[in-house]
Amino acid sequence: MTQLDERDTTDAAEQAASAASRGSAAYRANPYPVYACLRDSAPVCRLSPPHGVDTFLITRYDDAKAALTDPRISKDMYAAMDAYHTIFGDSSVALDDNMLFSDPPKHTRLRRIVNSAFTPRRIESLRPRIQEITDELLDRLSADGPVDLLPTFAFPLPLIVICELIGIPEEEREEVQKWCAVVARTGFSKEDKEKLAVAEGALRDYFADIIARKRREATDDLLGALIRTQDEQGAMNDGELLSTLWVLLFAGHKTTAYLIGNAVFNLLTHRDQLREVLADPELLPNAIEEVIRYEGSVENATFRHALEDITIRDTVIPKGSLVQVAVASANRDPERFEAPDTFDVKRQGLQSAHLGFGSGPHYCLGAPLARMEMRIALTSLFERFPDIELATSAHEAEWLKVPFPAFRGLEKLPVVLDPSRLLAD
Ligand code: HEM
Repeated sequence: MTQLDERDTTDAAEQAASAASRGSAAYRANPYPVYACLRDSAPVCRLSPPHGVDTFLITRYDDAKAALTDPRISKDMYAAMDAYHTIFGDSSVALDDNMLFSDPPKHTRLRRIVNSAFTPRRIESLRPRIQEITDELLDRLSADGPVDLLPTFAFPLPLIVICELIGIPEEEREEVQKWCAVVARTGFSKEDKEKLAVAEGALRDYFADIIARKRREATDDLLGALIRTQDEQGAMNDGELLSTLWVLLFAGHKTTAYLIGNAVFNLLTHRDQLREVLADPELLPNAIEEVIRYEGSVENATFRHALEDITIRDTVIPKGSLVQVAVASANRDPERFEAPDTFDVKRQGLQSAHLGFGSGPHYCLGAPLARMEMRIALTSLFERFPDIELATSAHEAEWLKVPFPAFRGLEKLPVVLDPSRLLAD
């Protein structure tokens, strides 16, 4: 490489790092060129995100996969309390005392308890009900004009499913959803943190209350099962139960909701691929895996931190630094996926390869449920409305703008369900 090339590369990497740190508008609209640049020139990149805690961003597939399983890169929030407080404030601690923010042996204990209640049988038993909820939501959609599929379909479906699974009564769901939306949308400004604290306080009070009610009156749902396990084995304290409820509720619907949106968007903007899926429905499961690779709903895995100085590709990540794994970047790494920027519903060998559900001990516990929901949602939507179109052009799509987000998803998804009805008017 010439000296000029080296300088160009460094400049490009610096610009990419700065765009990622600031969460610039262009980067939010299309983060993939920034990730490509970082993978090439700064694959373990020091960022200064708006939350003020220096973070090392890992963008290559091999490094990402290794980091997600590296015991030196911890998920234990109590071992990084100062950073955690700076980023999220006090209010998050009580909600995050769950498997997602812990290391073994605590992680193993908490995950095993949920796994024992979250059995494949319980998941499979949800199938007819998921279909029913999907059909009811589709019945309510109006084909007479453009509709935004996110609030009318993509969000309510997984929210109703996870609420029914947990056992949150129907009349209480709107309130819970409202607070969850605040948590999902908060950035790192002082004002945002205040809003976050209010929402998290409300959720904490709500969870404490519903746990108390279900303890008084045994129920057959997942929360009832968790309470029984807790009472019989004493394996989880009250705080852990409350935050387990939170992680299931939050992780269990935002991710799936945004993924339904990303799937519909990408299938509608790759019409030839959608035609292939419609002609051969057996392709759908693979198409869903391809959406998770190409435009998954989790852009960055959750926070980790270095328990010791760790060197990855000549970059030293000092002990105590925050580490983020850019799953969206790893899934577009040309070293791992051929033509990674091509959306190809027939791509082979995806399920065990993409990192869209994470990897290692924290691999998504809800993956089987999410896959089932995705299949039912997409099959039903496209069967009912085979001519569905985007109501605006693809480049007008509004992607989530929160800087440095965990999620990759759309703000809106306006579609026309049946263009012939519009033309007829
Ligand atoms: C398409 C939808 C989904 C996607 C893309 C997704 C993605 C992920 C990812 C990437 C992780 C790992 C995070 C990390 O290592 O930092 C994760 C963990 C987790 N997910 Fe999901 N998820 C989805 C749906 C669900 C559902 C439906 C549930 C529950 C019902 C769920 C529950 C969890 C839980 C509890 C964890 C933490 C596991 C642990 O720490 O051991 N997820 N998910």
